[in-house]
Amino acid sequence: MTTSRAATEEYPKVRRIRFRFGEPEPMRHYLVEDNIVLSHLVALLSAVFPPGEESFIRSVRRFADSVTDPVLKQRVAAFIGQESVHGQEHRRLNQKLIDMGYPFVRLFTFGRASFRQRAIERIEKMSPGYAHLAMTAAAEHYTATLAERVLGSDEIQAIPADAEGRHLLNWHAMEELEHKSVAFDVYRAAGGPEWIRIGVMAAAYVFTIPVVTAGVVLSILTDPRGWRPIRLLRQTHYVFRGPLLRGLMADLRKYMRPGFHPDDIDTTALLVHWQQELFGAEGGLVDHLK
Ligand SMILES: [Fe+2]
Ligand SMILES: [Fe+2]
Repeated sequence: MTTSRAATEEYPKVRRIRFRFGEPEPMRHYLVEDNIVLSHLVALLSAVFPPGEESFIRSVRRFADSVTDPVLKQRVAAFIGQESVHGQEHRRLNQKLIDMGYPFVRLFTFGRASFRQRAIERIEKMSPGYAHLAMTAAAEHYTATLAERVLGSDEIQAIPADAEGRHLLNWHAMEELEHKSVAFDVYRAAGGPEWIRIGVMAAAYVFTIPVVTAGVVLSILTDPRGWRPIRLLRQTHYVFRGPLLRGLMADLRKYMRPGFHPDDIDTTALLVHWQQELFGAEGGLVDHLK
């Protein structure tokens, strides 16, 4: 393990926040202005975050007894708090998206006692705890890698989009950087084997983009306004060649090095910049805090 314990030695903050979707002006159908593909990608990600993040929380709780270090205990509590608020705000956005004509989002929107929720929990219980937690650690690294791109790229920040949707994305990305190594450290504290950690990321490395691409295609199929073949081809080309995905696979491969730790990638300066930008004295989202 090398650099930047400073970023994680402090406990991440749990911010109680409330976004004002559709205020003062109603949201436009395409949150990313005129971009069908990016809008459906954002909607799909927003749809899967709440059930995904709840599963991350359960995976960490399975190893609560292995966490004896008081600092890590506090970081775990903050991780759970942050992911809970993410789920809560994404659920609110998802309801808006369903109302606005994104029916695919509904597929991932279900209550705690629903059949789908019970099925997910049953599958989790059948899977070994290490695999479940390694999945969380890999997903957290994947998310943090994307978050670093979203927050670090002027080109991405300059894409015209719904203002409140962008705020949500930046806030979520920033908190993902704040807690990026918590699940990983729980995995280490629990004695999780390196081969499972690396193997799970190898699977995520191969399957995530094809699965997400299929999801975006299905989502667009449910949206007749988006059936514009030439625009879709041009926008798909932009997504795959643009700043979000360009070089992503090379970045993700770093995680598969034995002995790797997420803090080996130093995101402290970027994080401090955005903490100021959003929640400093003049921060753009201070008025959103409850
Ligand atoms: Fe999150
Ligand atoms: Fe996270």
